[in-house]
Amino acid sequence: MKNILRMRGALALALVLALFAGLFVDVPDAQAEYGDVVINNYSDKAGMRPAVFPHWFHRMRFRCKVCHADLGFKFKAGGNDINMVKIIDGQFCGACHNGDIAWSVENCNLCHSGKPGTPTQVHESTIQKLAQPAGAAKK
Ligand code: HEC
Ligand code: HEC
Ligand code: HEC
Repeated sequence: MKNILRMRGALALALVLALFAGLFVDVPDAQAEYGDVVINNYSDKAGMRPAVFPHWFHRMRFRCKVCHADLGFKFKAGGNDINMVKIIDGQFCGACHNGDIAWSVENCNLCHSGKPGTPTQVHESTIQKLAQPAGAAKK
């Protein structure tokens, strides 16, 4: 009886440890989800992981107009020539990610969470599967 209890305890402990390990191991591996925009005009070249913009997450919270009219985001993945100087200056993501409306710019990894080498795209959009981007090497 005692042995079984001890075994159960060990199992429970192993489970908890596995869960924690999972948590901490998974975070740096975060990748884009369906519908996210991966922005990688400059990140890879600068040695940063590509930026991931969770579009649905933001669309649930703000009207399209806030970003696409008031803040001037063009409707095109990677089409806005965003960089950190502009963000810190309060443009683009920096209009909100300023520690006021949303957490601020020092949280590098929350935005730069893409898998290195992922090209600019709307993640898993059907277009990615159907069309070959202009200028892409032919297979
Ligand atoms: C709110 C989101 C966000 C945060 C936070 C953020 N970035 Fe960026 N960053 C971007 C986006 C979007 C781009 C444009 C990505 C591209 O086109 O490759 C970018 C581009 C860059 C680039 C390449 C262009 C340039 O400006 O040189 C570097 C380097 C960079 N970020 C470093 C950082 C570092 C270091 C931090 C933390 C101190 C950080 N970023 C925090 C969103 C963010
Ligand atoms: C919080 C800001 C924000 C809100 C709100 C928002 N968007 Fe966007 N949207 C973006 C950003 C950022 C991009 C990617 C631009 C880039 O990569 O430079 C984008 C990209 C797009 C694209 C282009 C995707 C592609 O295929 O290239 C479309 C279309 C779009 N948004 C439509 C909408 C619509 C419709 C709404 C409202 C229902 C909306 N957006 C709300 C920020 C926003
Ligand atoms: C109109 C305001 C606004 C703009 C513009 C904006 N964000 Fe956000 N973002 C928010 C808010 C608000 C949150 C939620 C913050 C919180 O939970 O404390 C958020 C959260 C996030 C998250 C975390 C999502 C999650 O699952 O918790 C990421 C990643 C992010 N933004 C990236 C970006 C990037 C990259 C850009 C620019 C391309 C950007 N945001 C532009 C307002 C904005």
